Amino acid sequence: MKAIIYFSLSKKKNSKRIAKEIQGDHFEIENLGKKIKFAPFQMFYYGYLMATKKPLEFNSPKIDFDKYDEVVLISPVWGGKVNIFMKQYLDENIFKNKKVTIIGTCMGNNKKYFESFDTVIDKSNKVIEHKLYTKRSMIYEKKV
Ligand SMILES: Cc1cc2nc3c(=O)[nH]c(=O)nc-3n(C[C@H](O)[C@H](O)[C@H](O)COP(=O)(O)O)c2cc1C
Repeated sequence: MKAIIYFSLSKKKNSKRIAKEIQGDHFEIENLGKKIKFAPFQMFYYGYLMATKKPLEFNSPKIDFDKYDEVVLISPVWGGKVNIFMKQYLDENIFKNKKVTIIGTCMGNNKKYFESFDTVIDKSNKVIEHKLYTKRSMIYEKKV
């Protein structure tokens, strides 16, 4: 069984759309803090949150990880790295001994995004796949 954990913020909901195409149980991390709708201001405001490392407000889906052997993590690439909402969720919700697929949605080539998960998920997990999308197209895939 797969647990699909995703965060998606832009109006287009790129990460959410890709998450919904994958079969399994879906868990959405939702921003409960300030909602910025205008895209250029999103860059500015969330860029500020990234830089200041302020604690974020979001719903934190409680998952019984014992039910799953696979975990899929999907979020927009922010600042070339793991999204700050996804990072804080993973810091607070540790799972072990799972097969993990990491998926990013972005505007360009961000292969370094995957390395930024190395210190975020527990070492007992085995990352099995990386995938990167821009808009609706997959631009990078690697079986690890
Ligand atoms: C604060 C912020 C930082 C971003 N940083 C990057 C980046 O470093 N590289 C990139 O290609 N796209 C970047 N983007 C664009 C998003 O990754 C891209 O639009 C993504 O597909 C949005 O996914 P969503 O619709 O699920 O929110 C950034 C967007 C925001 C709001």
